[in-house]
Order: sequence, then C-alpha cells, then structure tokens
Amino acid sequence: MKLFSSVKDVNNLQQFVDDALALKQNPFAYQSLGKNKTLGLVFLNPSLRTRLSTQKAALNLGMNVMIMNMDKEGWALETEDGVVMNGSTVEHIREAAAVMGEYCDILGLRSFPKLHSREEDYSEGLFNKFVKFCGVPVVSLESATLHPLQSFTDLITIQETWKTSSLSGRVGEGLPKVVLAWAPHVKALPQAVPNSFAEWMSRAQKEGMLDFTIAHPEGYELAEQFTDGAKINHNLEEALQGADYVYVKNWSSYKEYGKVLTYPDGWMLNNEKLSPTNSAKVMHCLPVRRDLELAAEVLDGPNSLVIQEAGNRVWAAQTVLKEMLKNS
Ligand code: CP
Repeated sequence: MKLFSSVKDVNNLQQFVDDALALKQNPFAYQSLGKNKTLGLVFLNPSLRTRLSTQKAALNLGMNVMIMNMDKEGWALETEDGVVMNGSTVEHIREAAAVMGEYCDILGLRSFPKLHSREEDYSEGLFNKFVKFCGVPVVSLESATLHPLQSFTDLITIQETWKTSSLSGRVGEGLPKVVLAWAPHVKALPQAVPNSFAEWMSRAQKEGMLDFTIAHPEGYELAEQFTDGAKINHNLEEALQGADYVYVKNWSSYKEYGKVLTYPDGWMLNNEKLSPTNSAKVMHCLPVRRDLELAAEVLDGPNSLVIQEAGNRVWAAQTVLKEMLKNS
C-alpha cells in the first residue's frame, strides 16, 4: 500500500478489519517492522485523536515519529503553480513536500477544506500535490473531502461490537442496520467525515456486511459519488426504526456549498429518539458539542460507543502503517 486516502485503496475490506482486530489483541506483534523507519505527521489543522492515535500506532510498530504543526510552526505554504510568490506565502508545496519526503519513510497529512469553493475543495488539489511531490507513501489524516482513518475505525467498531455483543446481552443476528444521522451545529463543518463514512458503509453494504441508511433534512444531500446504494431518508424517526447503530454527525450543505441552511427542529439525538431503535449503539467521531449535536444523556449512557470508537483509531492507523511498511 502506497496511499491511504479512500476506501478505494483497500483491496479486501473484511481482511483489513480482521487485521485491525488482530492487532488490537496483539499490539506489538510487528514491532520490528518499523525499526529505523520514520513517520512524519503533518497537520495544517488541529487534532487530538488523529495525532495521538497515529503516533501511538507508529510507536507500536517500532517506528520513529516526527510531528509538524505546519499551520503554526511551518512557513506559509503556496499551493498554486505558476504564481509569482511576492505575497504572504514563503515556501511552495513542491519543495516543502519533497523535503519532508527526504526525512520520512511514510508521511501523513491533514488538510481541511476552506469551504469557499466546492470545485477547489473537491479537486483535493493540496492533498494530491503533497502526494505527488513528497515521493513516499502517504496516509490521509483527513483531507478536504474524506477521513478514511476515521471511517475504517468506525467499521472496525461496528464489526467488533456486533460480533461480541452477546457479552452485553445484545446478540448480533443478520446484518446490522447502520444509520448516518445528520445533527445540528452552530458552525459550517466540512463533509469529509460523512462523505467518508458513507463511502465505507456503502462498500460494506455491497459486500454484505451491513445495511446502510442516511438521514438528513432536505438540502443536506451528500455528493452522490460517496452514497452509492445508501437508502436516504428525510425523516429521522422513520430512519431510526430498528437501527442497530446510529452515527451522529453534522455537516454543511454540499448543494449550497459550505452553508448552514435552515433546518427543522428535532434532529438532535436523545434517549427518547432512540426508543424505536434496536437499543442502537451511538457513534460519533468526536469532538462533539454536548446538547447541541448529541444529548449528554446519550453520551454518558450505556448506548454510547464514542470512547471505544476513539480507542480503535489506534488499530486502524496501525493496520494502514503495517501495510505500508510491509511494502517498503
Ligand atoms: N475524529 C478526529 O479525527 O478527531 P481529531 O480531529 O481530534 O483528530
């Protein structure tokens, strides 16, 4: 594996999940694989989980890790070609990425969208240039349109809890019904997490692993390229009927790009809304705004999987890094 930026970079989805769960059982099994190899994590935006879980994953594999908060510590980056750099940008991504490739065996990059131009964000120009010029394998730490380490984690967490749920008196029979549920927010957030979740769950549905529904108010349709085969419902209560997993997330409009539209009340998940579900487990990528996106009573209650989910970020990252190291 030379690139991890989408579910399309994964050949065998079930094997990938099984590998992650095996690493969770035996975290240090491949500690010699990363000896004398260096992972560079480059952040253009803030992070808690992605930064710490990917660092821990690399350490478990015996790698050295370097972290660069490019937005705060690096030179201001120019990403356009053919411009005279007589403004505020100091270093071109061509040189910056190539230099980082000289120091690292694998690089990770986080680069959020600006939410000004759909065309610009969905072209993934910055991420693709970084991949092109750095010359080493690259892991997406969340790009303008996708967050594959998060979505891989989410699939791992669903499979892990569905298969072992008899421990909590909840036996997974047949296919779990997974619902991605839009939630309110005060800010305009990117579509990267829901796009990516939809892309991974749609693939998992095609491969017979689960049943997938997306619930959102009208106007919040995701780009069709990520939602192939998903059932779309504009009625949250209807969508939640019989759900086994509810994945809560806000996103801004794709149609009216980057905008927070007016939306009806009643989209924040609370215990009452969970009643028509099959005692659904509730997931969120975090960070989450309590009692705005998701009720505190749910986050603090027995249905919440958010901490286990965040913990599983390590095994997702470790699986990806292991695959890249095997081929290096
Ligand atoms: N879910 C997630 O990616 O968290 P961070 O933004 O804190 O890394």
